[in-house]
Amino acid sequence: MSASSGVPRVPTFVTGLDNILNGGIPQGATVVIEGSAGTMKSTLTYAILYQNALRRGTHGLYMTLEQSRTDLEEQMSELGMARTGQVDLKDRLAIVDLGELRHFLAEAGESDLTTDWFKSVLRQLRSFKSEFPVGLFVLDSMNALLSLHNKENPRVDLFHFLRELKELGMTSLLISEIGDGSDTGLGRTTLDYLVDGIIRMEANRVQDIVNMQMGVVKMRKSSHKRSFHPLIVSRGRFEVVGA
Ligand SMILES: Nc1ncnc2c1ncn2[C@@H]1O[C@H](COP(=O)(O)OP(=O)(O)OP(=O)(O)O)[C@@H](O)[C@H]1O
Ligand SMILES: [Mg+2]
Repeated sequence: MSASSGVPRVPTFVTGLDNILNGGIPQGATVVIEGSAGTMKSTLTYAILYQNALRRGTHGLYMTLEQSRTDLEEQMSELGMARTGQVDLKDRLAIVDLGELRHFLAEAGESDLTTDWFKSVLRQLRSFKSEFPVGLFVLDSMNALLSLHNKENPRVDLFHFLRELKELGMTSLLISEIGDGSDTGLGRTTLDYLVDGIIRMEANRVQDIVNMQMGVVKMRKSSHKRSFHPLIVSRGRFEVVGA
């Protein structure tokens, strides 16, 4: 655990980003990873879990509501981040597919509409944590969770969800897709206020070349730079240039 400014930090192992963050994400923080479709949010968050499992033995849990577990595993294996291979990370890197839970609920006669998805995710996490000491948690994605959560007071429920999530003591990375036109602003702006940090991924097209950029929009307990930096991605390795 790096402690350059007194707070224990979880390194991202993204070259440059850890410099911006004075060593990493404050341990126990809830951080939104946001970007438009295809800006490598899933790859980045998985890479953070993978590197922390590999180099620090941290237990990571990736909860997916978007891609199936098989699909995600195939994508990450292609990028050189298989959970089994030269090193076996299966006991430190778990993937939970909430789509499977939806299927199970449907079979049990419970519909999506009557399920409280925030509570359901917390229940899953608590039961998982009793067997597997999760240090790092990824939720892919908040948009999917918010769209399933069909209740009257999503703002209030989101507030309670984030508070209870924080009480679980994990460092949480919440994926939020922006700019797809489907977000009314309710979930995202409320989310941005409530979380400890926001890391944004951007893709800018210059003629026929797409350049990636990354910036830290906010991070409590850190005096970080606000600039955006070019991001180079090569297989599963990310590098923020000039940070
Ligand atoms: N080095 C690379 N440079 C550019 N693109 C890459 C590179 N490596 C992988 N990709 C591709 O980038 C795409 C987006 O990655 P990823 O799925 O992580 O993004 P995402 O933001 O989670 O997307 P989505 O909006 O679909 O959830 C993937 O199809 C992946 O194969
Ligand atoms: Mg994704």
